[in-house]
Amino acid sequence: MKLTPLATFVALSLSAQANAADEHTYANLSDVTTNHIYLDLNIDFDNKQLVGFAEHNLEWQNKKARKLVLDTRDLEIDKVMYQTNDGNWHRAQFDLAPRHDVRGAKLTISFKQQADKVRVYYNSLPQASGLQWLTPEQTATKTQPFMYSQSQAIHARSWIPVQDTPAMRATYTARIQTPEDVRAVMSADNTDAFIKDGNYFFDMPQAIPPYLIAIGAGNLEYKEMSHQTAIFAEPTILDASVNEFNDTQAMIEKTNAMYGEYAWGRYDLLMLPPSFPFGGMENPRLSFITPTVVAGDKSLVNLIAHELAHSWSGNLVTNATWEDLWLNEGFTSYVENRIMEEVFGRDRAVMEQALDTAALKGQMPNLEQGDTRLNLKLNGRDPDDAFSKVPYIKGMLFLIYLEEKFGRDRFDEFVKGYFSEYAFKSLTTKEFEAYLAKHLLNKYPGIVSVEKAKQWIHQPGLPKDAPNPTSNAFINVDTHTKSWLNDQQDLTSLPTSNWTVHEWLHFINNLPRDLAKDKMAALDNSFNFTHSTNDEISFAWFMLAIDNGYTGIDDALAEHLEGIGRRKLIVPLYKLLAEKGQKEWAHAVYLKARPGYHPLAQGTIDAIFK
Ligand code: BES
Ligand code: ZN
Repeated sequence: MKLTPLATFVALSLSAQANAADEHTYANLSDVTTNHIYLDLNIDFDNKQLVGFAEHNLEWQNKKARKLVLDTRDLEIDKVMYQTNDGNWHRAQFDLAPRHDVRGAKLTISFKQQADKVRVYYNSLPQASGLQWLTPEQTATKTQPFMYSQSQAIHARSWIPVQDTPAMRATYTARIQTPEDVRAVMSADNTDAFIKDGNYFFDMPQAIPPYLIAIGAGNLEYKEMSHQTAIFAEPTILDASVNEFNDTQAMIEKTNAMYGEYAWGRYDLLMLPPSFPFGGMENPRLSFITPTVVAGDKSLVNLIAHELAHSWSGNLVTNATWEDLWLNEGFTSYVENRIMEEVFGRDRAVMEQALDTAALKGQMPNLEQGDTRLNLKLNGRDPDDAFSKVPYIKGMLFLIYLEEKFGRDRFDEFVKGYFSEYAFKSLTTKEFEAYLAKHLLNKYPGIVSVEKAKQWIHQPGLPKDAPNPTSNAFINVDTHTKSWLNDQQDLTSLPTSNWTVHEWLHFINNLPRDLAKDKMAALDNSFNFTHSTNDEISFAWFMLAIDNGYTGIDDALAEHLEGIGRRKLIVPLYKLLAEKGQKEWAHAVYLKARPGYHPLAQGTIDAIFK
């Protein structure tokens, strides 16, 4: 058949589309996709390498295709074998292209005939962007080494040769070998890891995108919290974590009731070392959690609600590209807040909304205009470089806006329907917009127009009529703050005895940035902020102190910066120190802290001191 020029154009753009949609992958999805991955890896702590092979079960989409293209970054490829349907294995030719700064190195594997299975024998390198390796001395118990992965957004390729795009899904199994006294866990069925013997088998029978493949290994013990939830952690922090997070089962029940049954079986938590660069990561069946939220009073457990919420928004219904991140994070921030309301009450949920909104408004002026759109335009940049609160909090505010306009009943029905319609699928913002128009905006016409939704999704900044969550508790804090600042009330008479961490955070964040020295000293004397045991309060206080040129925090600040590697709690401090003429001091602290940081944090902070 001869195609007309127009038909040729349409055919070509269709065949290019599958991966043209995600600019961060080299994968030729329209030719071939992986539907199952088997990992056979040895965790070599001495050389900081994973060594073994990844086997892909292939599903050919194009009869003529003879090539499989995988994403890699800093992998050493030993050989590639493929199996034909007669069961025989053959060596495959492969070509590893030069390393691209953002996307890594394209691995092209050529076959003589379409293979069912292909095995890539490889090892990762110590600098793998998606792995952190800790020596025993860098861990809490100091007896065994520790390693873990962080694959989102495009780091799975630094430890697995894979079609590294959230547009594709595969089930996976894995056999992992470690030293005998080290337990390994993965984002999968972990029951085999209950016996610590250095040899572990994992099974993830539900299809997931590669950024959710995850591994951790170290001196891990575990403790059940409920029939469905347990915690894996180093022994020193296990009990405290169990006490902090023992509402997890209640969170699951509430979410089931609102949005449909949890789809993944167990929901366990893995406590990571303090150097974990994020608060949490929603690896399926096993969320990865920073120890900086173990505050002793459950004040920061919205993080668990957040990672749990991803079991619906993100893991079940997935953004097709990293420009659609708000579909993951905005929905998750919204669901997180609904869970908090159910489990801890409306007042706390509104306080969290208000703190988040203030943080968004504080950050937005420092962002490129374009990066304040929900539907991001990355233009080839690393997704990490455009990371901000926008997909999270602007996304959440958009959904709160819709909830307020349509009413909770209609909106809940819409969200539940959306999760079920797109379960185990990936979608783009464009597809979401069509779904939204059909199942909400046009279903109940005259409430929110399609244009209005487009403004939220595609225009920079916040619409003028965006929700502005207000907490009565915070209004009360403001009143007292004012009277103290005006010398009408002294600190000891402020009614702080039953303030929650949220009220304290609101208090500190809203103090003037030109407070007199004696006022700063009075605050510290009364409330001992410099030595707070809550990492969020420490962070807020250090930001205020640096901004005000308040001295006397240096030792505590250095300890904070050297002790934790969660980017959110350290990067803004380094930036502010550099801006406020303390670059040299900050750099000296950084040089000491740097070896303990994750490669992602190192990258971000290196840029500040460059
Ligand atoms: N999935 C994110 C972490 C992430 C996002 C990693 C994008 C890489 C690229 C995780 O669920 C998250 O959002 N964590 C937040 C939690 C907070 C909003 C409660 C964090 O780490 O601070
Ligand atoms: Zn998230």
